[in-house]
Amino acid sequence: MERSLVLVKPDGVQRGLIGEVIARFERRGLRLVGAKFMQVSLDLAKAHYAEHEGKPFYDGLIAYITSAPVMAMVWEGPNAVAAIRQTVGSTKPAEAAPGTIRHDFALEVGRNLIHASDKPETGVREVALWFKAEELVDWKREVDRWVFEK
Ligand code: RTP
Ligand code: MG
Repeated sequence: MERSLVLVKPDGVQRGLIGEVIARFERRGLRLVGAKFMQVSLDLAKAHYAEHEGKPFYDGLIAYITSAPVMAMVWEGPNAVAAIRQTVGSTKPAEAAPGTIRHDFALEVGRNLIHASDKPETGVREVALWFKAEELVDWKREVDRWVFEK
C-alpha cells in the first residue's frame, strides 16, 4: 500500500486546521498509520528540504517550517501519493483548484498550510526520515473492503 508523509505546517496548526485536514483525508478513505505533534528541529528541516537548498525561497522555507509546531502524519491507500496531492492542491494556493485544501484555506505559497510527498519514492524516504518503524501502526479497518477494491 502506498504511503505519503503529510505535514500540517505551522500556519495550519496556528489557525486550528489540523482537524479539518485530518477530516478531509479520512473522508477520502485514506488510512492513518502514524501521527505526531512536534517542533521541527533545524537538522530535520534541512534534511527534509535538501532538494531546495540554494533556491531563493530556501531560507524562508526553513524559517517557516521550524517557526512553531507541526502535525506530522503518514497516510496510506491505493495511489495515496497522487490522491493526497490532489486533495492538497497546487503549491501556489492562487493556482489551486477550488475544493482543495490550499484553495480553500490559503493565499500565499510561503503559507500554503500543508506538505505532502510528491512521488511514491519520496513518500518512502520522507516517512523513514520523520517516523521510526515502531511509530507506524499496521492495521485494518472493517470498512477497508468498501473503500479499497483489493
Ligand atoms: P510541499 O513539498 O510543501 O508539499 O509543497 P510542494 O511539493 O507543492 O512544493 P515544493 O516545490 O516541494 O516546495 C516546497 C515548499 O517550498 C515553498 N515554496 N516557496 N516562494 C516560492 O516560490 C516557493 N516555492 C516553493 C512552499 O511552502 C512549498 O510548499
Ligand atoms: Mg514538495
